Amino acid sequence: PETGCLSIIVLGASGDLAKKKTFPALFNLYRQGFLQLNEVHIFGYARTKISDDELRNRIQGYLSSGNEGSEDVSKFLQLIKYVSGSYDAAEGFQALDKAISEHETSRNSSEESSRRLFYLALPPSVYPQVCKMIKNYCTTKSDLGGWTRIVVEKPFGKDLASAEELSSQIGELFNEPQIYRIDHYLGKELVQNLLVLRFANRFFLPLWNRDNIDNVQIVFREDFGTEGRGGYFDEYGIIRDIIQNHLLQVLCLVAMEKPVSLKPEHIRDEKVKVLQSVVPIKDEEVVLGQYEGYRDDPTVPDNSNTPTFATMVLRIHNERWEGVPFILKAGKALNSRKADIRVQFKDVPGDIFKSQKQGRNEFVIRLQPSEAILHEAYGQATWGVVIPEAYERLILDTIRGDQQHFVRRDELKAAWEIFTPLLHRIDNGEFKPIAYKPGSRGPAEADELLEKAGYVQTHGYIWIPTDVI
Ligand code: BG6
Repeated sequence: PETGCLSIIVLGASGDLAKKKTFPALFNLYRQGFLQLNEVHIFGYARTKISDDELRNRIQGYLSSGNEGSEDVSKFLQLIKYVSGSYDAAEGFQALDKAISEHETSRNSSEESSRRLFYLALPPSVYPQVCKMIKNYCTTKSDLGGWTRIVVEKPFGKDLASAEELSSQIGELFNEPQIYRIDHYLGKELVQNLLVLRFANRFFLPLWNRDNIDNVQIVFREDFGTEGRGGYFDEYGIIRDIIQNHLLQVLCLVAMEKPVSLKPEHIRDEKVKVLQSVVPIKDEEVVLGQYEGYRDDPTVPDNSNTPTFATMVLRIHNERWEGVPFILKAGKALNSRKADIRVQFKDVPGDIFKSQKQGRNEFVIRLQPSEAILHEAYGQATWGVVIPEAYERLILDTIRGDQQHFVRRDELKAAWEIFTPLLHRIDNGEFKPIAYKPGSRGPAEADELLEKAGYVQTHGYIWIPTDVI
């Protein structure tokens, strides 16, 4: 049932993810009318012993700017209650269950189902124990149906073996339909539109294959380093932080075959298939980089071998894509901030413009930061359409029970299978990153790799933002 009393429990409520992403997303859902006042209660849970009001104060500053002091903010904050306790002892979770149950009975909801959504804004090392506590003490009790769902976020392990171990620990406690693995790239507006673009457009249908496409690039760049989170980052590196999840998810949607229907399982089946068709990555098709100054961070070891930049070629062994390189590229501390998908078509046969060096046909989808531009463009229109942020959309999906934009267990496994051999070589120090200057394009070797893979840089290319059209 998708109605009835709804409790959203944010575990790790005083941490960064909760403050910066989870609570602001919940606030925006509330403000847009997706969380009904008389139905919803939000609980924060963490170890710190603070009062309800102290938690509310901590969150307040992160709710969309311009709303400070608004009636919406104070009403939203009143929905939040705080319970403190440890992540591995029964008492805390019993207290949490009591608080949730009180809210459920206060609504006189004995005839309604109860829905409990647990959002784990926590380090994955505590996922198994927290899931166990939830399972033992906090699952929904209503005889009238209802549900308990768990939302988790990456990193899901560090390689194939650790990810599988984590999956089976959680899998023993909850069924796959109860587990929502968030990859926030799947919540981005233009990523969500990829299937429409590909499968509802006669224009693209005949072109989307090896006969017409020469190469595909999926690129993520940030113009800032790992400041403030060097300790976390150093354990993972750019491949685990960005490529194995965000960029690979985008690759799936660009490359997958048409699903049988739009049912979440049908879509996820096709994603798994394309991942399983990726052949092992060759060392000579990988360039790693580390920006100069990265190791100056006191939380990063002086001899760190962790890449903050990587460019690599993935090859898909199937009828549609044989021979087409999919170039994944991600880097921190580069010269710009953007994320895009760049599809480069083959040369036009018998090209009469060749002497004018027009370059190749390219089709570019900008995921970041164009979403902001889109926002503005829609926001200015009088019909008042609001495009939700990635996290808002995904949280709403968890409430509605739609798993389409969440990573299934077999999908996660297939994703780790692709990168684990390479990651192990990097971890063992057998594959070293090349130094690059912060604010640059990254190591020159990466551009050479692109060229070798067949990418032709198109000159005179101008991006026209949608807000000026
Ligand atoms: C996170 C990564 O998952 O995504 C960060 O851990 C990165 O390193 C962030 O900065 C980027 O997300 P977005 O939506 O700003 O492109």
